Amino acid sequence: MDLGIAGRTAIVCASSKGLGRACAESLAQAGCTVVINGRDAATLEATAASLRAATGAKIIAVVADVSTRAGQDALLAAAPEPDILVNNNGGPPPKPFREVSREALLEGVVQNMATPLELVQRVVDGMIARKFGRIVNITSASVVTPLTGLDVSSGARAGLTAFLAGVAREVAHANVTINNILPGMFDTDRLKSSTAKMAAMEKVTPEEAAAKRKAAVPAGRFGYPDEFGKLCAFLASTHAGYITGQNFLIDGGAFRGTF
Ligand SMILES: NC(=O)c1ccc[n+]([C@@H]2O[C@H](COP(=O)([O-])OP(=O)(O)OC[C@H]3O[C@@H](n4cnc5c(N)ncnc54)[C@H](OP(=O)(O)O)[C@@H]3O)[C@@H](O)[C@H]2O)c1
Repeated sequence: MDLGIAGRTAIVCASSKGLGRACAESLAQAGCTVVINGRDAATLEATAASLRAATGAKIIAVVADVSTRAGQDALLAAAPEPDILVNNNGGPPPKPFREVSREALLEGVVQNMATPLELVQRVVDGMIARKFGRIVNITSASVVTPLTGLDVSSGARAGLTAFLAGVAREVAHANVTINNILPGMFDTDRLKSSTAKMAAMEKVTPEEAAAKRKAAVPAGRFGYPDEFGKLCAFLASTHAGYITGQNFLIDGGAFRGTF
């Protein structure tokens, strides 16, 4: 399927690895110019080289902390008029809720709520003026189902979701859509480290913790990042112009709800 976005420009935040990288790759395969981002320069440059070789697309690497104003400035300097914005960031580390300090709480809100909202504020009017915009936020299954120890993540991302639910309806008239993808368990570095921390909290080995997590997924496995990236590219496509304000849970059936 031709996604109809060849020649468009995309900013994919926090995309040198994992789910962000998979979104960047799918958008590059669709013919977009893609700004990728991460804080570690060597990892980011290696990813940029790999994406260029795999897709032939123009990939612009921006080393920056997306949670900072300077980092956001650098991303927008690389692509002042993005057609597509994929919001992503690191997530708060797992921690028993009683031990979450005020600083950690605020840090989680900055990372997973304020940062994506600030970027939306900065790009949305240009999208409206150009009558095309696709904003996709990587949130988490924890928005709809509680995960022990990930309470800061759940709360901040639920706040982001609620905030943008109204905004999505305000900008839909101009062919600007805002949607969220909620990953369940995908095989990334983040999943490995969160599994290791959960193992420590539960006093089991990382292998035992991983097996327990997989056993809770009807698909019987963790997700492949490419499966996530493909959904992101579809939501960014011309075909998805009538889909907005929605939450797409992609979790191998782990969430046991009819709706
Ligand atoms: N994987 C899952 O199963 C899963 C499930 C639910 C939710 N999530 C959420 O989805 C998001 C992506 O997870 P992932 O599994 O893809 O993680 P990952 O494999 O650890 O990759 C994270 C990426 O984000 C970059 N990054 C982190 N903090 C950044 C910052 N402040 N500024 C710029 N780049 C930053 C990292 O590069 P640098 O470290 O070099 O900056 C890396 O490229 C996270 O918020 C995570 O909590 C993931």
